Amino acid sequence: MEGKILILDFGSQYTMLIARRVREQRVYSEIHPFSAGMEFIRSFRPAGIILSGGPSSVYEEDAPRISREVLDLGVPVLGICYGMQLIADLLGGKVGRSAEREYGIANIRGQWGSPLFLGIEEFRHGMEIPVWMSHGDRIERLPAGFSSIARSDNSPVAAISNHEGTLFGVQFHPEVVHTPRGKEILANFLFRVCGLDPAWTMHSFVEGSVKKIREEVGGEGVVLGLSGGVDSSVAAILLHKAIGDRLTCIFVNNGLLRKGEAEEVIHTFRDAIGLHLEYVDAAETFLTALTDVEDPERKRKIIGELFVRVFEESARKIRGVAFLGQGTLYPDVIESVSFKGPSAVIKSHHNVGGLPEKMHLKLIEPLRELFKDEVRELGRELGVPPHVLDRQPFPGPGLAVRIIGPVTPERLRILRDADAIVDEEIRGAGLYESIWQSFAVLLPIKTVGVMGDFRTYENVAAVRAVQSQDGMTADWVRLPYDLLQRISTRIINEVKGINRVAYDISSKPPSTIEWE
Ligand code: XMP
Repeated sequence: MEGKILILDFGSQYTMLIARRVREQRVYSEIHPFSAGMEFIRSFRPAGIILSGGPSSVYEEDAPRISREVLDLGVPVLGICYGMQLIADLLGGKVGRSAEREYGIANIRGQWGSPLFLGIEEFRHGMEIPVWMSHGDRIERLPAGFSSIARSDNSPVAAISNHEGTLFGVQFHPEVVHTPRGKEILANFLFRVCGLDPAWTMHSFVEGSVKKIREEVGGEGVVLGLSGGVDSSVAAILLHKAIGDRLTCIFVNNGLLRKGEAEEVIHTFRDAIGLHLEYVDAAETFLTALTDVEDPERKRKIIGELFVRVFEESARKIRGVAFLGQGTLYPDVIESVSFKGPSAVIKSHHNVGGLPEKMHLKLIEPLRELFKDEVRELGRELGVPPHVLDRQPFPGPGLAVRIIGPVTPERLRILRDADAIVDEEIRGAGLYESIWQSFAVLLPIKTVGVMGDFRTYENVAAVRAVQSQDGMTADWVRLPYDLLQRISTRIINEVKGINRVAYDISSKPPSTIEWE
């Protein structure tokens, strides 16, 4: 059976992971706030409902609750942690504070024969499996018609089920990696309990999104700031597929881009893909505003504010625009925002702070349910060129945070030339795609060198190459010596103004990836 899962969010930091795990099983799911209401839930027509965890206790006065009717719809329900306690409470069981908070790995023994535990062979032999617990409450009395289907050392009720086999609850978190068998347990709920088939693919995501975007946008226009990075590019191409030329992309050249970058973005998106692209060359405006500015945070602030101004001015010239498109990803959406409501708070580095309100635009964020690797998969499905999808991250403030000290046209020229060599050599060595970021930095010191018969007194460039999962932590890459040597020789020979190259061997923390 094809169908979708409704995830009701009670504020758990793991809610987004539940959605992801369900998608990994090729079942479509959506997260909605617990307060979505019966009318919405009925119209959603879920094949199954998952109630997330959450920080509250069901016996608290202002605890988030749902109508009991949700459990009477005849649709299978799985409650996770808080969700399980809520099921118990709604149906007349009793939940109280545990003597001890259970946090971390626990071992549970489950009932062999429960559809939720199909394939967990350990249970057949009375053995335990590790699970991740994070709760301070426990079920003291089960509702009528329910039994415990798993126990841990600390709780005799680590999972519950009604006798019909339609309502389930687990005290642990099957969605986190610390519950190694969690995937199977969730799959059992989807396939055995709800009777779903693994039919959903990125292809169906595209179809669904296109339909949703068309409905939401109607006949109006959308404007989107395209940087050429993975997220804004995939968002642009998805929107374009849905509404064609009613999408206008604005690409602002802030004068802080890498060598050839502006030309490449224009070529890829306007010429090859056929997006309606407005190119705004604001290099001079940005460089003038950055004159003599040394402090990194001031650089960022100036660049961020100017971007908003330039973008706004350009967007106002486009007629019929009612929406601002953004490539916001799930991790950007602040934790459990769906719990608080749809007003997503986005990270400031998206450089669009305040834009939607100022311009009276509605936000449209077609990637807000996806993780980075899913965005890449979506991009492949949409035919986005690999060189766009494989692009290393590049900071919004661009080369300004890689020129230590004031940014000048001459220093930009020097850094661009050096950076282009790093890029070429890393690609030539076949390492570009496997490295998180690799680039050059221009230092604010001069050192002595010799060239032929002459003494030189020139700049130092640092080369940085790091490996990272998400940019939060990073380690320097052990690049082969001969590659480092080629980079160094080429930079010193080919880039006028540099006579020394250093390799950055600091990890994050305590250093950062960027030098500013
Ligand atoms: P750091 O230097 O903090 O960088 O270790 C972590 C990641 O974030 C990128 N970065 C930025 N991206 N605006 C951005 O859009 C910024 O101001 C900014 N500062 C750092 C950096 O390139 C790395 O991937």
